[in-house]
Amino acid sequence: MNLLIIGGGGREHAIVWKVSQSNKVSKIFVTPGNPGIANENKVTLVSIDNPNIKDYVQLAIEKNIDLTIVGPEDPLVEGIVDEFNKNNLLIFGPNKLASQLEGSKDFCKKILNSANVLTAKHESFKDPISANNYIKNQNMPIVIKADGLAAGKGVFIMKDKNEACKLINDLFDAKINGIKTSLVIVEEFLKGEEASFICLVSGDTVIPIASSKDHKKLCDADLGPNTGGMGAYSPTKLINTDMSENVINKIILPTIKELKKININYQGFLYAGLMIDKNKNAYVLEYNCRLGDPEAQAILMRLDSDIINMFLSTINNQLDKLEIKWKKESACTIVLASEGYPGKYEKNNKINGLDYEVNDVKIFHSGTKLNDGSVVTNGGRVLAVTALGINLQIAQAKAYDRCSQISWDGKIKRNDIGNKEINNKFIFS
Ligand code: AMP
Ligand code: GLY
Repeated sequence: MNLLIIGGGGREHAIVWKVSQSNKVSKIFVTPGNPGIANENKVTLVSIDNPNIKDYVQLAIEKNIDLTIVGPEDPLVEGIVDEFNKNNLLIFGPNKLASQLEGSKDFCKKILNSANVLTAKHESFKDPISANNYIKNQNMPIVIKADGLAAGKGVFIMKDKNEACKLINDLFDAKINGIKTSLVIVEEFLKGEEASFICLVSGDTVIPIASSKDHKKLCDADLGPNTGGMGAYSPTKLINTDMSENVINKIILPTIKELKKININYQGFLYAGLMIDKNKNAYVLEYNCRLGDPEAQAILMRLDSDIINMFLSTINNQLDKLEIKWKKESACTIVLASEGYPGKYEKNNKINGLDYEVNDVKIFHSGTKLNDGSVVTNGGRVLAVTALGINLQIAQAKAYDRCSQISWDGKIKRNDIGNKEINNKFIFS
C-alpha cells in the first residue's frame, strides 16, 4: 500500500514509525513531516505551501495513495474526510460533522448534556458583558474556554473574579495567544485525576486502545498554565477494566447514540479527556477526534499489532473482528519544550545529542526542522522522548536519562512525569 500521512508533529512521527513497520506498506508520503519523520523507512516528505483540503486530494491522486491518515484535528474539523470520500479516496478519521465534537466545545457540551453524560456544569456566552455578570455569582476557581480549536491553549483556570472578567474581555478582543473566538464557555472547576481514554469507533462498535495519562500543566506538581501536554505514560491504573467498561457504557456509547440521532456517524479515534473524582466518577472534560499528543507516542510504543489493521477495520466497519495486542511493558514520554511555551519562544536553536540510539528508547520529533544540515528547534514542544520499561519507574528513568543527553539553549521539561502513579499519590489511592 501507498500511504499519505498528514501532519508534522510528535504524534505523526509515532504514527509514521509504526506504519513503516507494517509489511502491507510500501511507500509513505508525509506532509509536511519533520526531520525525525524523514529518517524513518519508506518515507518521502512532501511540502505544500499553505495547503488546503483540495491540495491533499490532489496529492493523494498524484501519488496513487491507498490510504490517508490524518494526525491533527484541523483538517478533520475542516472536512478532509468528506472531501476524500467524495473523490473515492480511502481515509481514516471522522467526517466534518462528527469532528465538531472537538471543533466546537459548545456542540460537544450540547451532545454530552442530551446524552446525560457527566461533564462540568457550564454556560456559553456570545458577549463579554453577560459572561462577566455570570462570573460575579460563581465560586472560584472557574474554568474559561474559548470555543473553537486552540491547540490546547484556549483553556484558562482562574482563581480571581476580576482577572477572570479581564480574561474574558481579552478573549473576545482576540488579545490572548492569537485565539479568535466569538463564543466563550464558562464552566465549573472539577477536582480529580485526569486520564485520556482513547478508543476506535465505527458504527456502534467501540474498541478501547491502551490507556494513558497526559500531564497538561507546564510545571511540576501540576502548576502553571495549560499546555498541549508535557509528558504521558501508558498504561495507567486510573483506567482499569472496570473503569474502561464504565466509560464505554456511560460515556462513549451514549455519545455515539446521541450523534446518531442527528444523523452523525462517528468513525475514527475518539479521545475522551476525563476527570475522575474522588468517588471514581468520570466526567468528560473534552472530546478530541484524533489521537492525543504526546499520548500517541507512549501508546504506539506499546503496540504489538499491525497498526494498518486498526485503520482498515475501522473504515470497513469490522472492528468487532479486530484484536489488538499491547506490550506488557510501560511506556513513558517526556516532552522537551522551548522556554516561553505555551507563550512566545525562540526557534532555530541547534539541538545537540540526537546522534545515537538507545534500546527501547525512541526520540519522536515534534517541533524541529533542518537548518544547514543541523536539526534545530521549530516549535514550543520540540521532542517527545519515549522509553519502554518493565514498569513505569524503569521506563521513566530510561526516558529521563536520554533527555539529559539532549541540549539546546532554552530547553525545558517537567521532572515528575508519572510520579503520582509510581508513588501511589492519586486522590483515591
Ligand atoms: P480541555 O481542552 O477542555 O481538555 O482543557 C484543557 C485542560 O484544562 C484539561 O486537560 C484540564 O487539565 C483543564 N480543565 C478543563 N476543564 C476543566 C474543568 N472543568 N475543571 C478542571 N480542569 C479543567
Ligand atoms: N495531549 C492532549 C491532546 O492531544 O489534546
